[in-house]
Amino acid sequence: MALASSEGWLFLLRWIHFLAGITWIGLLYYFNFVQTPFFAETEAPVRSGAIQKLVPRALWWFRWGAMFTFLSGWLIIIQRSHQGGFFAGSYGWAIFLGGLLGTLMWANVWFVIWPNQKVVIQNAVDTAAGRPANPAAAAAGARGGLASRTNTVLSVPMLFFMGAASHLTLPVPRSGLIFWIVALLVMFVIEVNALKGTPGQGLAKPLATVKGTLWAGFILALVYYAWFEAMRA
Ligand code: HEM
Repeated sequence: MALASSEGWLFLLRWIHFLAGITWIGLLYYFNFVQTPFFAETEAPVRSGAIQKLVPRALWWFRWGAMFTFLSGWLIIIQRSHQGGFFAGSYGWAIFLGGLLGTLMWANVWFVIWPNQKVVIQNAVDTAAGRPANPAAAAAGARGGLASRTNTVLSVPMLFFMGAASHLTLPVPRSGLIFWIVALLVMFVIEVNALKGTPGQGLAKPLATVKGTLWAGFILALVYYAWFEAMRA
């Protein structure tokens, strides 16, 4: 039986990974490219109804899609690293970079976007029921929104390196230490901007539009790719 083997187990993990990954990133793009621009121009009662009845459903699939993508991805890495030679070719380097970007995105979903969206949803439920509005709801929405835009940016290099791992031979960096320090530093700056940046200002400014967000994503993919080339032995 083809599936009852270690190859079969790995394949099942990959299959779960793809299914969960498209669920997660599909909804991420729906939120950023469709829902946010729609909310910006629609009437308040329509927005309130959607926040109460549509957004919670979308966020359920979104956060569990993220969880299953994350878990299956790391299980694949654990399994493959046991086979040895993980960082011998570019596979390990590319998948690790893609996996770290994906892990940062997963953390943003569970620890930034979801907690902030809960405040926004509760506020819509309360105001619709005639209870007082939560003054912190607007800021929570803006913070969650910036983290969501940040994840859209990160998704572009994330998928580049995830796909490159098996399908593009990249140079193996001559110094792992320097490579990872710089790679992590870039992620750190982006994350500080997501957590502390003022939406619409400074580094967060391009993320105020879909166009700016996409540009930032492609530039970031290029920056990481150039870093691989610069570290060529
Ligand atoms: C959350 C952290 C993530 C980790 C740790 C991770 C890990 C991995 C690993 C280890 C593989 C290699 C599978 C193999 O060896 O064949 C892989 C492949 C892949 N991942 Fe992820 N992943 C993550 C997030 C994502 C996300 C969000 C997506 C979005 C759809 C995604 C899409 C893919 C795709 C399409 C492949 C297949 C590439 C190929 O054909 O070789 N991953 N991932």
